[in-house]
Amino acid sequence: VVIGSVRRVAGWLPDRILPGGGTPDPLIERQTEVGRPTSRLDGPLKVTGRAPFVTETVLDGQVCAALVHSTITRGRISRLDTRAAEAAPGVVLVLTYRNMPRLRIVPMPGGADLFAPGSSGLPVMQDGEVRYNGQAVAAVLAETQEQADHAAALIEIDYDVQPAATRFEDAKATARTPASILIEKNHVSVGGAERRLRASAHRVDNVYRTPGHNHNAIELHGVTAAWDGDSLLVHDTTQGVVPEARALATVFGLKNDQVRVLSPFVGGGFGGKGLWDHQIIAVAAARVAGRPVRLRLSREGVYRIIGGRSPSEQRVAVGADADGRFTAIVHTGYTVMPSYGACPEQFTMGTRTAYRADSFEILQRHLDLDVVPNTFMRTPGETIGTFAVESAIDELAHEMDADPVELRLRNLPDRHPISGSPFSQHALHRAFVDGAARFGWDRRTAKPGERRDGEWLIGLGCASGGFPYVRIPGANVRLTLRRDGTVAISCSAQDMGMGTTTVQTQHAADRLGLPLDRITFTLGDSALAASPMAGGSAQTATIMGAVMSAADRLRDELLTLAGPGSPVAGLRATAARLADGGVVAAADPARHDTYQAILARAGRDEVTVTGAGAPPLEFLKYTMHSSSAVFCEVRVSEVTGEVRVDRLLGSFDCGTVLNPKTAASQLRGGMIMGLGVALAEETLFDERTGRIMNPSLADYHIPAHLDVPDIEVLWTGIPDPHSPLGARGIGELGTSGVAAAVANAVFNATGRRVRDLPLTLDKLL
Ligand code: MOS
Repeated sequence: VVIGSVRRVAGWLPDRILPGGGTPDPLIERQTEVGRPTSRLDGPLKVTGRAPFVTETVLDGQVCAALVHSTITRGRISRLDTRAAEAAPGVVLVLTYRNMPRLRIVPMPGGADLFAPGSSGLPVMQDGEVRYNGQAVAAVLAETQEQADHAAALIEIDYDVQPAATRFEDAKATARTPASILIEKNHVSVGGAERRLRASAHRVDNVYRTPGHNHNAIELHGVTAAWDGDSLLVHDTTQGVVPEARALATVFGLKNDQVRVLSPFVGGGFGGKGLWDHQIIAVAAARVAGRPVRLRLSREGVYRIIGGRSPSEQRVAVGADADGRFTAIVHTGYTVMPSYGACPEQFTMGTRTAYRADSFEILQRHLDLDVVPNTFMRTPGETIGTFAVESAIDELAHEMDADPVELRLRNLPDRHPISGSPFSQHALHRAFVDGAARFGWDRRTAKPGERRDGEWLIGLGCASGGFPYVRIPGANVRLTLRRDGTVAISCSAQDMGMGTTTVQTQHAADRLGLPLDRITFTLGDSALAASPMAGGSAQTATIMGAVMSAADRLRDELLTLAGPGSPVAGLRATAARLADGGVVAAADPARHDTYQAILARAGRDEVTVTGAGAPPLEFLKYTMHSSSAVFCEVRVSEVTGEVRVDRLLGSFDCGTVLNPKTAASQLRGGMIMGLGVALAEETLFDERTGRIMNPSLADYHIPAHLDVPDIEVLWTGIPDPHSPLGARGIGELGTSGVAAAVANAVFNATGRRVRDLPLTLDKLL
């Protein structure tokens, strides 16, 4: 059995995993604000246009920037004529590799990093080399955006073109198998899976293909950069203000405290809003021009220089004995990750924990192409991995005449199927049973093509999805309790629209025993207490861990301040807790002192503490992930091949739901992204030239309102005893499994098995 050594070590850790020690978080048992469907606290600011988004910020003396993108894939600039652009009206500066400041490019640290300079190990406009199609080769600064755009079109560039690696199939010959993907080993080989597969009573063995996908946050990537002497102020739409500030400090040779990044509101991130070339170019351009710069990418610009989701080719084989118990699971395949890239698109991660089996063969290989480095995109790995695996299980169910829900339930694991480590909490069985009942799964006819309504064939499908729990180390918050009983909490987190501000305020209210309106929660500024990026569905638990620690420090501080006259005088910290607007003896609710009274008697206007999240040992000791059962009903036109999704239901096992309104919205949004993966999204990459051919929302299709049915969302609501407040992340869970549920429903409707996404009508005629 091959597992990461970190897990083996973690097996010896003591069972005291939550900040403050002991299990589980007592707040799981008493919630007031948590669990309420509170509307987003920043909602009114957004709907009235008072929430400032980055490129609406106008700095004094600001100039606007436009980028010029390479039209070739590999080669070298042989002629560069910027004279016409420099002479154009309003132009302040033309920046190319000739006058770009020399940057300190640090080698990209191994593994996942959204904040490596330019999200890759490549230099940013440091030489005349072109390394992928669409790379930024020049920037124009002008007084207005229109002048900058016009002048950018006047720059003349010739290239010496060199051969480029752009063909997926050709690159397989030199595919690499990196040592590890995140924390688990990349190659798992247990129990002789190929041999067992051949001896199985039932088996399927097929290849599935998924296309590349591009990021399309409604708010385009955009940044402003302003220097004041050697200090740098950046407004950016980013998933990590502190990681970005630190990366910019490294690139420009500054100290961390010389860079400040502000990002109070982000109009969608999805993994695409890390540090890319454009922020570095904007900062450098502002330095050279001596004026603040605003650089907003065009929609096409996002496709050119921001990576997306890698295409994949995956083989999945599943064997079962006569009783339908899995004998073997094989999941191998290829995705693209250039040597200078950082995102391994870990499509086999979920396969390690989804089902039990007698044997496993799991292997991921990376192809090195000359492309903008692909990056994280909502539910990286699981989105496409579950399409392949959950389609294969549906195929196996059909081949052995079993009900697809029954077959899955028969093979659910009761611990990590490979490492054997225990689940912290896992109730996928319950999610399946509840979801199937609510959806009316019993109305499904097993034989494909049996139900119709005029020209429409009707089918039902299901699939399972999952996403790991993560709490990122290094979270800090600052908490100030004032004499009037109000509390201000701040940290450098980011709210990309998912409701971070709202749920953290709810959490703090319950943690401190205060009503919601006494708490303010501030984020989006690298000058605040440093916390990690928003990603990996980890931010909610990550910040909660730091708030828990701050609350403990506040309790200690207040016990010290309380003084001999206080009802809580002499209490040890472990015998006291924060509740009902003050400090209370855990064993005797009558011994209670209010925050106001303690501060007043101590003559203090306020008390400030900081909190740091305890190391996230819980997910090293336990197998911690959320899972889902997805059900779908489709209609497929026999005349046009068009697929319409009529009903979609997600039943989730994701721990405590902190806010049913924002959570349902998150999960529903994730499921809509899954619908896009199933039916529409496809980057058309010209393998002859290495160029993306559909860089616009006119040509890159996503679900519009009429494509999206009513989506039902339910959850088990069972708390996880090993996470803060029993919650696990939900930002990415919704997307997992949806594409397979749709494909399986299409098979049930038509008898046609489509193994390459998206399910466009040409594949069904
Ligand atoms: Mo997400 S793809 O971890 O922003």
